[in-house]
Amino acid sequence: MKREVEIKKGLRLLPIRPVYLASMAHGGKKNIITIGMFAFFSGKPSLVGIGISPKRHSYELIRRSGEFVVNVPTKKLMKAVSICGSKSGRDVDKFVAAKLTPIKGTRVNAPLIKECPVNIECKVVKEVETGDHIWFIGEVVATHVDKRYNWRKGLLFKWIGEDGFFYKVGEKIGQYQEAT
Ligand SMILES: Cc1cc2nc3c(=O)[nH]c(=O)nc-3n(C[C@H](O)[C@H](O)[C@H](O)COP(=O)(O)O)c2cc1C
Repeated sequence: MKREVEIKKGLRLLPIRPVYLASMAHGGKKNIITIGMFAFFSGKPSLVGIGISPKRHSYELIRRSGEFVVNVPTKKLMKAVSICGSKSGRDVDKFVAAKLTPIKGTRVNAPLIKECPVNIECKVVKEVETGDHIWFIGEVVATHVDKRYNWRKGLLFKWIGEDGFFYKVGEKIGQYQEAT
């Protein structure tokens, strides 16, 4: 039996609520923002998007530079994720505050976060105003992966339950089988 629930509550029950760190730079200033709004927009070309509120410092920096990097945090970086999701780059250098190291990418000027085992370099191809967030759709121009990284052991996912806790994924539960 089903009951209609408040829309916000229903959306919180979606299983995949990723947590990523997006990094960017413009005019000698670099920044990091915690993002939950991430989506794939195309396979060929490879397009991904991040939804950023125009209130964020990150919004201005991405708008001006036309670039961003999506960095995948591990469970060790939970505190850094909270810092980058609550402090603004207008007030603090989040690389310092969250003890994260900027390193050079290969195709964009935005920094990669060294401590994140997966980094996706993107160049903005489209900006889409949806509602209270603007979607920056970026073409993926390079990806970097730490050879030692086992994603099953430590990817961070957020499930926005009532509790505001972070959860990790990793259990293998069955194999995909193409329907005949
Ligand atoms: C788990 C989590 C997910 C978030 N997702 C987003 C998001 O997708 N888009 C967004 O604009 N802000 C998001 N935020 C809020 C920003 O990270 C936060 O406002 C940050 O301080 C903005 O920093 P900035 O002013 O340096 O850009 C999220 C925060 C948390 C904790």
